[in-house]
Amino acid sequence: MALFQKETAQAEPDFSNLPQHIAIIMDGNGRWAKQRGLPRTAGHAAGAENFRKVATYAKEIGLQYLTVYAFSTENWKRPQEEVNAIMRLLKKYLLEAIDQMERDRVKMHFFGDLTPLTPELRKLCDRTQEISTHYDGCQVNICLNYGGRDELVRAMKAWYADCQSGLRDPEALTEQVVSDYLFSKGVPDPDLIIRPSGELRTSNFLLWQSAYSEYYFTDVLWPDFSTAELDKAIAAFQKRSRRFGGV
Ligand code: FPP
Repeated sequence: MALFQKETAQAEPDFSNLPQHIAIIMDGNGRWAKQRGLPRTAGHAAGAENFRKVATYAKEIGLQYLTVYAFSTENWKRPQEEVNAIMRLLKKYLLEAIDQMERDRVKMHFFGDLTPLTPELRKLCDRTQEISTHYDGCQVNICLNYGGRDELVRAMKAWYADCQSGLRDPEALTEQVVSDYLFSKGVPDPDLIIRPSGELRTSNFLLWQSAYSEYYFTDVLWPDFSTAELDKAIAAFQKRSRRFGGV
């Protein structure tokens, strides 16, 4: 039995004391499809549908920030057909999101370099961000062509350029300055990072931001990660003692 299963017994979280920011690695879509004799793309479609449910629930319970890993800088190595299917699902999701944003007041953001996406998808990303700039609901950050190392390299290059042009003083570099050069600028670090599907690694996700995040691992595959599973993860998080290096 995996070590992490012990703490999942308690399912009811305290909704008056939610973590501010939850991040999720939406893993296990391929295995979910394989178990059912379906193509991997069907697993991603089920994963996208589950993301909709979880994001709606997050909004309903009053979570402030939800960040999901939708496509990494390494995911381009997958078969073209699979990459295309994920991009189609994103397009479908964004088109629906645009329709519902006014009602939901969900704030949409993207972490990652969007330039390799199709102009159509980039436009949709820009449009959802633009529309929701002033919304005050849950902020959903979708990591797209995102990698934690890539993010840090980009931050270093941008900071160096600003030093060269006199905008920054190299002597004044602090942790806060580094944070301000990341895609997540202005977003508090995740309190809780959830990885379903039984994999016990971080896979280049929010490397800088996760310094003091609590991790929650479960064997459940992402398309099966229901809102009840999210409740369990939050309840487990609420039992942890966070010391941030203190005592
Ligand atoms: C990891 O599972 C999942 C992905 C790389 C893609 C995630 C994409 C979606 C859920 C759909 C689009 C997203 C949104 C936000 C609408 P895997 O394929 O590595 O699963 P496996 O490890 O079982 O093969």
